[in-house]
Amino acid sequence: MNHFISMKQLSSETIIQLLDSATNLQESNFTISKQLFAANLFFETSTRTKMSFTVAEKKLGMEVLDFHAEASSMNKGESLYDTVKTFEAIGANVAIIRHEADNWMTELASNIAVPIINAGSGQAEHPTQCMLDLLTIYQEFGCIKGIKVVIVGDIKHSRVAKSNAIALEKLGAIVYLCAAPGYEDETLQYPYITIDEAVEICDVLMLLRIQHERHTNKHDTAGYLEAFGLTKQREKQMKDHAIILHPAPVNRGVEIDKDIVEYDRSRIFKQMANGVYMRMAILIHVLTEWGIIDDTIITER
Ligand code: CP
Repeated sequence: MNHFISMKQLSSETIIQLLDSATNLQESNFTISKQLFAANLFFETSTRTKMSFTVAEKKLGMEVLDFHAEASSMNKGESLYDTVKTFEAIGANVAIIRHEADNWMTELASNIAVPIINAGSGQAEHPTQCMLDLLTIYQEFGCIKGIKVVIVGDIKHSRVAKSNAIALEKLGAIVYLCAAPGYEDETLQYPYITIDEAVEICDVLMLLRIQHERHTNKHDTAGYLEAFGLTKQREKQMKDHAIILHPAPVNRGVEIDKDIVEYDRSRIFKQMANGVYMRMAILIHVLTEWGIIDDTIITER
């Protein structure tokens, strides 16, 4: 049985099934008629991912085990591994984990007997964010194949860029990257274009925040918007149907002009809303794969 760790492990068929399932969950209220506990184990800060998992779990009728690393026994030296084993022992049925290390799951994957969902691993992957981004594109265009997506910003330090590049290519999208010098990533083999080229050709402009927390030296952002970001002038060059995505948090006035965040073509808050239903679909998917639930106990309210 698989943990939900990387977009590399999902087939295009499974991804499309999950997108359809999330849309279905958006249209009808489903709940699980069995007591289940979800452990939200966030060792890095989060607003959207943690809270949308909480809403998703509650909508499905699950009990939410909240956790605050700073107030936990990790302060007494307990490891990540023993913390997750503890939640398994006390009855968690699924663990949702975010951690600053790229490979935090290596030790856990073969030794934890409940499904683990990756809610962000260092600068490596953020598969549930990727899934909600795909859902937003899919709902907009009715397909992913052939859509031109430009991922723009601090590609090197972004787990969202990595997950999306993998999944978008798998689904037949045409992927381009755009980054300021030093923010390119040599592991991703896609053409780099300038921001002025990006706005003209894209169907989807996927903007990224500068990931200051993963930099060794502090980078000055003065002049970044004008040189590399989405200004009002550049936004005017976008095709009528083109949309703007951003995983958020947004640094208004740095990677994007502060007003554009709420322009008609921005789907940034739609992404957040989609996150709830996408995470419901992912929870149902892993709980079903692990034999913890089946169709008979998912009922419409
Ligand atoms: N997009 C995202 O992961 O946001 P949070 O860090 O607030 O969870």
